[in-house]
Amino acid sequence: MKLQNRHLLGLDGMSKEDISAILDTAVLFKEVLERPIKKVPPLQGKTIVNLFFESSTRTRISFELAERRLSADVVTFSTAGSSVSKGETLKDTARNIEAMKIDMVVIRHPAPGASHFLSRVVDANVINAGDGGHEHPTQGLLDMFTLRDKYGRLENLKVCIVGDITHSRVARSNIYGLTTMGAEVSVCGPATLIPRDIEKLGVKVFHRLEDVVQDVDVINVLRIQLERQESGLFPSLREYHRYFGVTKEKVSKASKPITIMHPGPINRDVELSADLADSEHSVILQQVTNGVAVRMAVLYLLGTSN
Ligand code: CP
Repeated sequence: MKLQNRHLLGLDGMSKEDISAILDTAVLFKEVLERPIKKVPPLQGKTIVNLFFESSTRTRISFELAERRLSADVVTFSTAGSSVSKGETLKDTARNIEAMKIDMVVIRHPAPGASHFLSRVVDANVINAGDGGHEHPTQGLLDMFTLRDKYGRLENLKVCIVGDITHSRVARSNIYGLTTMGAEVSVCGPATLIPRDIEKLGVKVFHRLEDVVQDVDVINVLRIQLERQESGLFPSLREYHRYFGVTKEKVSKASKPITIMHPGPINRDVELSADLADSEHSVILQQVTNGVAVRMAVLYLLGTSN
């Protein structure tokens, strides 16, 4: 199986066939991860560099585990302690690393479009692990995998993404992926945190959580980026929690059980109440588990089709 593109830069424009191929392949790798020996050989002899120019816990560990489980040689680079602190550009950093004969690069960077830029200056396969507020495609894929695993389908599933839609790469990748797969996607948050014209992406807009819980199967709660409060986009964390915080009490008013997702890290009792995050409604830790299988699928499909 070969994907249409030799890089994974985003889910915008990715075909239903390619998304399905990644999710189907991840099912096989999830089974590998349940074995006593969780290692398989397909990327033996390949070298992968993880370039992390921004903090990460889940994505970075998950990519490293996925690469090692596929038997690749792995080097992880983070900005602290590197020559980036001496002013070296992304292009020079990447070209110097590539001169050491690498096959694939995973990049997280605060600038939107950084992975696109990198794909134009290196020969290696490039995987976007989050570029500013633009896209986080493997998060979108692991979220879809988790939902397909739970419901057996994505088609006609009603998913609402709640929070700061404007600045969220997770929201964008979920919207592109889920709408392509036939889910009914909506967003909810204060008007200041929802882009104008978002309906053009095929999503419905809510401004009241009470309306969301009566309508949906799934709520994907986004992390409130605490620095946004200083820019005046919402008055206070307390007020945000009151109107948009997803709580057990609000979800209990739904006519059917609602699945709660969150990409992490969680601000407990801000965007999501701690008791709901830890409840039977939550699939947050399943998302993390599934992330390794989904990243193995992406690395496998890109790394074995050159
Ligand atoms: N979900 C996610 O991207 O988490 P990290 O920032 O910890 O990688």
